[in-house]
Amino acid sequence: MMRGQWRRLVAASGLALVLAATACSNSNDNNNGGSSTTGGGESTENGFKVGILLPESKTTRYETFDKPYMEAKIKELCPKCEILYQNADQDSSKQQSQAEAMLTQGAKVLILDPVDASAAATVVNSAKGQNVPVVSYDRLAKGPIAYYVSFDNKKVGQFQGQALLDALKAGGDPKRADIVMINGSPTDPNAADFKAGAHSVLDGQVTIGKEFDTPDWSPDKAQQEMEQAITALGKDKIIGVYAANDGTAGGAIAAMKGGGFTSPFPPVTGQDAELAAIQRIVAGEQYMTIYKAIKPEAEIAASMAIAAATGQAYSGEPTTTVNNGTVDVTSVLLTPVVVKKDTIMDTVVKDGFYKVDQICTSQFAAACQAAGIK
Ligand code: GAL
Repeated sequence: MMRGQWRRLVAASGLALVLAATACSNSNDNNNGGSSTTGGGESTENGFKVGILLPESKTTRYETFDKPYMEAKIKELCPKCEILYQNADQDSSKQQSQAEAMLTQGAKVLILDPVDASAAATVVNSAKGQNVPVVSYDRLAKGPIAYYVSFDNKKVGQFQGQALLDALKAGGDPKRADIVMINGSPTDPNAADFKAGAHSVLDGQVTIGKEFDTPDWSPDKAQQEMEQAITALGKDKIIGVYAANDGTAGGAIAAMKGGGFTSPFPPVTGQDAELAAIQRIVAGEQYMTIYKAIKPEAEIAASMAIAAATGQAYSGEPTTTVNNGTVDVTSVLLTPVVVKKDTIMDTVVKDGFYKVDQICTSQFAAACQAAGIK
């Protein structure tokens, strides 16, 4: 496919994901087609070891979607490859040991979703020292990485902020009382992008009563933060909650229920289209989520990893260039999709992410019926 052009990525079901690439200026004049000149000596005929390092398991996406999609694509492209998999459970030093162990075991390429993007530079540098390219997955690691695939994460924050603002305006003056902002982990560069994107829409338009960064993206910590906010501001002074993902939204909503909020709940945002969040949206407890089609993201990472290890230039979706502070990285950035109650059918169901049966269990049957989800 020609570089330097726009193209649409159409997911299997036909849900169009417009790529966020705005410019494609890579020269790719190095030996593996990626941004770093590491690796490239392997062959798919003989197979090799591919290491996958995911960051946590409280957010359901990683074990349920990212891992199986990535593994299936690696097996398709390189049936003789052996996959080494580890989840760091949000522990950066654990992730570093896992990566070192994979290098010791002879991994020839790593796909790394870093717990701590800065700390990950140690892993990336030691991989490079052993001629092992690193594909940065979803979160942008520091250091001489070969490729990066993610979503347009500023846009995620803008979409969340805009949805919240629209909902607040529908109820009157959006400054009539306070909102609470529950951001993600300070070690995750995506969390900074979500936060900046949301602020770009909300600042000046709303009153932010309390704002938190949530260590480890922990739903439990988000719950405590929301409890603090309710105590400090008062239940009746809170008209909306910006929660950066569905895990933190779940924590916030649990605190709201414990703090005496009842239906109709003030609008609460989210991200990841987790099943529990879709069900909360159906039930009217959560206002929206962001659907990021994980299948193309995981498959692109697999293709980048195989390309980097075998010395081919990655030739899938159109690329853009992202600078991670060390190198200009050949990157693919996909576009997120807003999901509200009335678009569940046209997004996550249409795309095959969930079947109606999974969403509409007996507990949610009546709410599904009322929302036309069938
Ligand atoms: C982000 C990721 C989100 C969410 C969060 C918590 O980096 O983009 O989808 O899962 O981490 O793990």
